[in-house]
Amino acid sequence: MTFGNVGRPVSRVDGPLKVTGKAQYAAEIPVANVAHAVLVTSAVGRGHLRSIDTRRAEQVPGVLHVITSGNVPPLPGAKKKTDPNDRILQVLQEDEIHYPDQPIAIVVASTLESAQEAAFLVSATYAADELHADLMPIGQDRYKPKKAGPSGDADTKRGDVEAAVNGAAVRIDQTYSTPVQNHNPMEPHALTVVWQGEDHVTLYDTSQGIFAVRKKVSALFGIPAANVRVISRFVGGGFGCKGSPWSHVGLAAIAARVAQRPVKLALTRQQMFSLVGHRPKTIQHLVLAADRKGKLLAVQHESVSETSRFDEFVEPAAVVTRMLYSCPNVRTTHRLVKLDIPTPTFMRAPGESTGTFALESAMDELAVELKLDPLQLRLENYAERDEGEDKPWSSKSLRECYEQGAARFGWSRRNATPRAMRDGCWLVGYGMATATYPARQSGSSAVAKFRRDGSLLVQAGSQDIGTGTYTIMAQIAADALGVPLETVTFELGDTIMPETPVSGGSQTASSTGSAVRLAALALREKLIATALADPQSALHGLKADAVLLSGGQLTAQGQPGKQDSLSALVARSGGSEISAQISSVEKLERAQYSLHSFGAQFVEVRVDEDTAEVRVARAVGAFAAGKILNPKTARSQFYGGMVWGIGFALEEHSVRDARSGRVVTRDLADYHVPVHADVPELVVLMVDEHDPHVNEIGAKGIGEIGITGISAAIANAVYNATGKRVRDLPITLDKLI
Ligand code: MOS
Repeated sequence: MTFGNVGRPVSRVDGPLKVTGKAQYAAEIPVANVAHAVLVTSAVGRGHLRSIDTRRAEQVPGVLHVITSGNVPPLPGAKKKTDPNDRILQVLQEDEIHYPDQPIAIVVASTLESAQEAAFLVSATYAADELHADLMPIGQDRYKPKKAGPSGDADTKRGDVEAAVNGAAVRIDQTYSTPVQNHNPMEPHALTVVWQGEDHVTLYDTSQGIFAVRKKVSALFGIPAANVRVISRFVGGGFGCKGSPWSHVGLAAIAARVAQRPVKLALTRQQMFSLVGHRPKTIQHLVLAADRKGKLLAVQHESVSETSRFDEFVEPAAVVTRMLYSCPNVRTTHRLVKLDIPTPTFMRAPGESTGTFALESAMDELAVELKLDPLQLRLENYAERDEGEDKPWSSKSLRECYEQGAARFGWSRRNATPRAMRDGCWLVGYGMATATYPARQSGSSAVAKFRRDGSLLVQAGSQDIGTGTYTIMAQIAADALGVPLETVTFELGDTIMPETPVSGGSQTASSTGSAVRLAALALREKLIATALADPQSALHGLKADAVLLSGGQLTAQGQPGKQDSLSALVARSGGSEISAQISSVEKLERAQYSLHSFGAQFVEVRVDEDTAEVRVARAVGAFAAGKILNPKTARSQFYGGMVWGIGFALEEHSVRDARSGRVVTRDLADYHVPVHADVPELVVLMVDEHDPHVNEIGAKGIGEIGITGISAAIANAVYNATGKRVRDLPITLDKLI
């Protein structure tokens, strides 16, 4: 077999298409006779639509239809959730308003400009009710959800927390909060819909989960899933918002059906703040109790987060506390408050990003209280197994992450006394925190085809959300089959290809990567068997284990003269290709283990003593995530997570107006994300880790761990610099002065 593609820093195979503009995104698909759709959204956040006047809009030249609740076709599946991660949509089936900017009409016109102008001219009257759009620390009804995300129960308990807290020498009892954040991928949500008659439809959608879109559209319109084709070849970023279909997908499909023309719909940047989910605000109460040496005796983590009135999403912030440290007495709870807001959703490391801010800030406070080095405190409480699940780790290299990260960062030079390190007007602070994320895997499938022309075509539905899926899948397939990387084409982003899971939860490499490897291995076996059975082959009659496959050539072991090429083999078979498909990748032994990636984040901040301006000066992240398939694309993933951590800690915050409930920071001028000037030198260390249990390829997934821990590391560094503990993100100037 040819090895050596996996693990190599191969440049993105789709890079040239992207930088030359040849990669077509969902709103760019050239479709004949396409019409343009624009959404009209509610001016109030709670109440009823009383009347809607579309007459002026209909008179705009080029307008084809203005669809409202008054003339929309009934959709049988509008209220149905197709699975627990699916969202309830607002597709004009009712006049009730549940949140600000809920869609109330969709305008279809022959040009975008006509549709935009007409959308402005739709006027509506409302019966508005009082609304509540802010999660409060007290005074709101909280309820216990059935589950806390995919990872488990809403509440857990081991040992006796109360007794342990009462008997402990040292206690930390604090509340931390994280704000509403909105996803802002470069490419806003967009789609092009083409119906073929009444019951067949093709959607070019920007999606992290094309099979979820297929299921939803099939349910909405009551047509078989086989009649729905979803194509998503290029995605300009997702981060969770594109993990499930939202109302605009259903509305665009309605518009195209009513207009009997293909329809294109792109959300505006402003609409991204209300129509495609958000990271919910959390309020997290943490109690830590320890002995004088720093051994944790009890941990309690109670998280409250917001959800919409009509649907449910739990930010599983306390889940991480169940497994991160060794501690005999642990209690975690999740509660929800229903507000007049759109339904929140997954946003990069949902749960772990918000939860590690609270837990890792509290650990830092405990270290201060104990006068112990924060890293030492974490080593004192190192978990040798997952005490929450009561299972051994499939692998864990957190100790190595701490060591390598600390060494590279120069952690030993830290002065633990706040305000002790200075550089001119800047107060200098060092902070650290632990990072972690689960190593998920879902059922996936793939097909591998060796073609007459000597090329290998591998296909799996899947999505490349900018992470490098096209590239790593080609690397995996090339090595598994034993052919040069240049001869491999990997195709994805189409529901006519083998079914795969959502590209979320950092699971695409693990799930679909394993399917691709198994499909290529199955094809290898089939090709060799075909040669051995073929009287015309030089290898006829040999045993399978006596044959080598390398560089697309079959050779008899020890007899270099006895050769056959894969392309000749396919040609003699009479067909155009020989193929193998894999439809299950389940690794049964996974159930015996707790599977997680780990990492350590080290940050230096500088805080201007007079203005309280905070700058991240440098950061080192050391991560162990199993096999790193491609260090180049992997490094970008870690960078992306860490950069977002800077925004998480210092900038990102969606502000809602208390009376209208609307997000007022609804563009990238008001909603701050890190720009180049905010991002210093970042060092990513990829710590070697071999994990034979996690999946077929040994890779744990790296899309989300980079954003975990880092906001706490920054907050902890700010404390070290200033002596001020900020427990409510983001850390803006007003909280430091
Ligand atoms: Mo990620 S928030 O699972 O797309």
